[in-house]
Amino acid sequence: MSFSHSGQFKKLSEEDNVFSTIKYYKWFDQTFMKKRFSVLVTRRLHSTALKKLEKKCDIILHAGKIPMPKKTLMNKIKNVDGLVCHPYDTVDKYVISNGKNLKAISTFSVGFDHINVKFAKKQGIKIGFTPEVLTNATAELTIGLILDLLRRISEGDRIIRHKKWNQIYGAYDYTGVEISGKTIGIMGMGRIGREVAKKANGLGMNVIYHSRKHISKSVESRLKAKYVSETILYQKSDIVSLHVPYTKDTHHLMNSKIFKKMKKTSFLINTSRGKIVNEKDLGIALKKKQIRGAGLDVYELEPLKKNSPLLSLENIVLAPHIGSSTEETRSKMSNITAENLLRALEGKKLLYAV
Ligand code: DGY
Repeated sequence: MSFSHSGQFKKLSEEDNVFSTIKYYKWFDQTFMKKRFSVLVTRRLHSTALKKLEKKCDIILHAGKIPMPKKTLMNKIKNVDGLVCHPYDTVDKYVISNGKNLKAISTFSVGFDHINVKFAKKQGIKIGFTPEVLTNATAELTIGLILDLLRRISEGDRIIRHKKWNQIYGAYDYTGVEISGKTIGIMGMGRIGREVAKKANGLGMNVIYHSRKHISKSVESRLKAKYVSETILYQKSDIVSLHVPYTKDTHHLMNSKIFKKMKKTSFLINTSRGKIVNEKDLGIALKKKQIRGAGLDVYELEPLKKNSPLLSLENIVLAPHIGSSTEETRSKMSNITAENLLRALEGKKLLYAV
């Protein structure tokens, strides 16, 4: 509680609390001559995470357009010690070079393809990220896309809203595909790939996978997952689900050549990174029915362009990059992001370092 200018009692909002806390820490640090760090945050984090940062840092919090325009980012990074960024921020060598005092970058994501890691590390800049906490949420979304796509849930929603329900009464009309008994081919058997395999087991699916490395025999047997070559994975899977990071080797990994290898009845799911799929080729494959459908959470360009050909297709489910987007996961990610940054600035071991 506090008094407003008019002398009335007013309940402090969370925002007010944050600001009075900052004032207190500033006063404390100035009084005891402790060094405060200067930090740029490109998008609002949860208030617990901001408070954690505010204890030791002066924060420039970007509140405008998202993603923060490159020019603004280039400008605001000039004098800061640390940067908190998100997958939509391109932290390339130009941005990094402009951060003359930059010592740490902490990204609110498991993916770090938006950061020029090699260049940053050369400058001695520490980089933190947020793996593990989003494994379950992303695997859940993957399963959600599979269920939606194969059982045509979103498509059905559109049918109802467009008042066309009475057109799908026939016994053969509007049938989906059963999930149980189908083969899922997991490309990339890291944390998220394994969690998808576990959940797919629960749905009665057969699991095959391809990865840079074989997983151990004991994990393979626990996940009932069989290693296959990349070609076999495309040929045998009813659902191909992508869980590889985006690198120059995985750029457009899924293209017209691969779609031709896949079964005509198969589906593609992508919850990893958009540029792993050649979207133009995918649009053509879906239109020509070279594959039966796709469920995407990520795109070559985000947000998806208003005139994207994908928008006019019925055999696709589109999610707006929400793999990690649950209340539980996002708040954990915020706290890890703040903690990583503070640890890096204070010369301590990060919780999760790239
Ligand atoms: C990640 O953490 O990389 C996710 O894609 C962000 O939502």
